[in-house]
Amino acid sequence: MKTQKITQIFNICCIGAGYVGGPTMAVLADYNPELRITVVDISKEKIDLWNSEDLNDLPIYEPGLKEIVLKNRNINLFFSSNIPSSIEKADMVFISVNTPTKKKGFGAGFASDLKYVESSARQVAKFSKGHTIVVEKSTLPVKTAQTIKSILEAYKVKGDGEKKSFDILSNPEFLAEGTAINDLKKPDRVLIGGENEDAINLLKKIYLNWVDENKILTTDLWSSELSKLISNAFLAQRISSINSISALCEVTQANVHNVSKAIGMDHRIGSEFLNPGPGFGGSCFKKDISNLIYICNHYGLHEVASYWEKVIVINNWQQKRISRVIVEKLFGNLSEKKIAILGFAFKSNTNDTRESPAISICRDLLEEGCYLSIYDPKVNTKQIKSELNNEQYKKDIFWENCSNLEDALFNADAMVVLTDWCEFNNLDLKKIFEIMRYPSWIFDTRNIIDPYLAESFGFNIWKLGNGFYN
Ligand code: NAD
Ligand code: UGA
Repeated sequence: MKTQKITQIFNICCIGAGYVGGPTMAVLADYNPELRITVVDISKEKIDLWNSEDLNDLPIYEPGLKEIVLKNRNINLFFSSNIPSSIEKADMVFISVNTPTKKKGFGAGFASDLKYVESSARQVAKFSKGHTIVVEKSTLPVKTAQTIKSILEAYKVKGDGEKKSFDILSNPEFLAEGTAINDLKKPDRVLIGGENEDAINLLKKIYLNWVDENKILTTDLWSSELSKLISNAFLAQRISSINSISALCEVTQANVHNVSKAIGMDHRIGSEFLNPGPGFGGSCFKKDISNLIYICNHYGLHEVASYWEKVIVINNWQQKRISRVIVEKLFGNLSEKKIAILGFAFKSNTNDTRESPAISICRDLLEEGCYLSIYDPKVNTKQIKSELNNEQYKKDIFWENCSNLEDALFNADAMVVLTDWCEFNNLDLKKIFEIMRYPSWIFDTRNIIDPYLAESFGFNIWKLGNGFYN
């Protein structure tokens, strides 16, 4: 039975078994064998997949994840649909649910939709017993802890009469997909925001099992919540900056990769996140910047809002201009042409397609009347179908998801590299040229194809940001 004052954490419940909840709790369980961690979700289907015997059926793909799940599952790591009982037993509850952008109502297109966070807070308020530390793991607008607190406080008064108490901490997650396990094992920093030092220390103690103390940063709640949004905004800003320069390089015969290297060697700038590409994708950058814009406008900081808005404007523009280049190079006509799309995930080493630049580029190309043959090592047909999200394009007479590269490229007029999958690094260009239709085009948005080699076999090649291949 839980006591009013917690001096040690024994049981953890994580609400949300998605890209963050699953891997984060798996790593936490791995480094804290004495803890019992239960990950819950409203989707029974997802929980069943986390419990599936064949580890290839886990709901998400992340290098190294299978091994950690196999080692800890049903020992001190559990996946369950029984939300009430898991919350009731927990000393600490992580809220790791999705926080998408609102689709309608006030703030539509910008503000975060906090309905999943609110319902999680209500579940905690209702089912918790004694004292519970509630940890915000989701990325949230600054001041959300106040909302959670109000919900929990209301239940303290109106609930079942039993005494409940809560502490709220902010502990945003900085993992990137595709490298989640490594990021969790070797974080640049762990950020914990809160008001109660005892609660902060209990969470800190869990991380201290594998993270150096000097990498654990403790702050007030609001700085912690805000730092997560700003971290994503700064990363996305760098990508939009270099993408804007990729267009300038194309018209000035410069090479963006040389520029990127030259500026990145200045230690004040740094070399990371300066790779140009088809625009950033993923579930978070656009959503979090939109949220930042909404917050700035809310506080009357319209100039600040419009500054950050440009990061998204450039990102959309980059995707559009790639579609336009492809159409123009193929004589302004795509009808009766087959275009092979290499990569549909928003980045390599993940099966996640949320906000992938491939979605808008594929839609643009379909609009022009071509036939698409898509190949991605980890993305399945159902996912592509739902992303193309148009009754017309859901029919497979307009596109196919190929199980191998050769089928995708057979008789194609062009191949478009959109995701930086490792297996695209060493393509057999000679063989590919033989099976494609003439004239054969390569559109390389990820700087993966050797242009000299491609030209030597007879390809026409366009390389993003490279003035020599435009
Ligand atoms: P996700 O959609 O993969 O997973 C969220 C899960 O929460 C879903 O499975 C959903 O069914 C479940 N859920 C929603 N409401 C629930 C409720 N009331 N009770 C139980 N389960 C509920 O989302 P994600 O990618 O894991 O992101 C979660 C949060 O973490 C977001 O705020 C996101 O911004 C942030 N984040 C994501 C990443 C990333 O790489 N994906 C990295 C850092 C932070
Ligand atoms: C990003 C952040 O990197 C994480 O720190 C953060 O926790 C996470 O968002 C989140 O809050 O969800 P993620 O979106 O998984 O992680 O992946 P990134 O590696 O950041 O890539 C995002 C997009 O930017 C991808 O489409 C990628 O191809 C693109 N990108 C990245 C570039 O085009 N150029 C680069 O130099 C780097």
